[in-house]
Amino acid sequence: MTSPVSDSAERRRPLVVAIDGPAASGKSSTAKWVASELGMRHVDSGALYRAATASALRREPDSAKWTEDLVLAASSTVTLVAGETTFHARLDGAAAEAELRGKDVTSRVSLVARMPRVREWVNGLVRQAAEGHPVVVDGRDMGTAVFPQARVKIFLVADPWERAKRRLIQRFERQPTEAEIAEETDTLVHRDAKDESQTQRAVDAVLIDTTYLTQEEQVARIVALARQSQRASAG
Ligand code: CDP
Repeated sequence: MTSPVSDSAERRRPLVVAIDGPAASGKSSTAKWVASELGMRHVDSGALYRAATASALRREPDSAKWTEDLVLAASSTVTLVAGETTFHARLDGAAAEAELRGKDVTSRVSLVARMPRVREWVNGLVRQAAEGHPVVVDGRDMGTAVFPQARVKIFLVADPWERAKRRLIQRFERQPTEAEIAEETDTLVHRDAKDESQTQRAVDAVLIDTTYLTQEEQVARIVALARQSQRASAG
């Protein structure tokens, strides 16, 4: 039985659904869909690391010369703007989706994500976005470092081959060849290794392996968990 003290503590917990997991595990698309089902807003923390990386690249194309100070100064051009259902990372006030998702940024973002002050900057923006709004956040450490009190924590995993295939279908809008999937699997596995220290599975996170799930099924599972938690805190 729950005590009145823990009941009120439960009610004070921020309405946050935290979705973490490795590269291309479907966090962002799932989080966006979950947020729209629940009438919450989506925040993609990875987009901020990508935006800081893109901004640093605009300032200094040779990433070997990047220092934490340079990346932080470059990230001052990045803003997180509230849209109707999702927050958007902007570069110099403009959308730069293709640049953020491109190879140049993707191959350097783990380097930037290892910088402690860059992590503080991202975490601050994400927490600010959650003030006064229920949010679904996705990243690597949302359920641990950023929102340890999140009501619902999910850790999404999937077989690397399947993750690579999904990422390529999203990118090419066609079925990829076996050779393309093999190459992308390699890239993802390398990025997972570079991101290992910042990828944290919370002990109270629900692990969902999406290898054999459709996106609709994984969204339905998370929405059900969130509704269950909402009922528990209201009741
Ligand atoms: O979509 P994908 O999983 O490929 O990557 P993302 O979520 O856009 O994140 C891009 C990169 O940002 C990752 O490879 C990590 O290096 C970093 N990241 C992080 O360190 N912590 C987070 N909370 C989110 C992303």
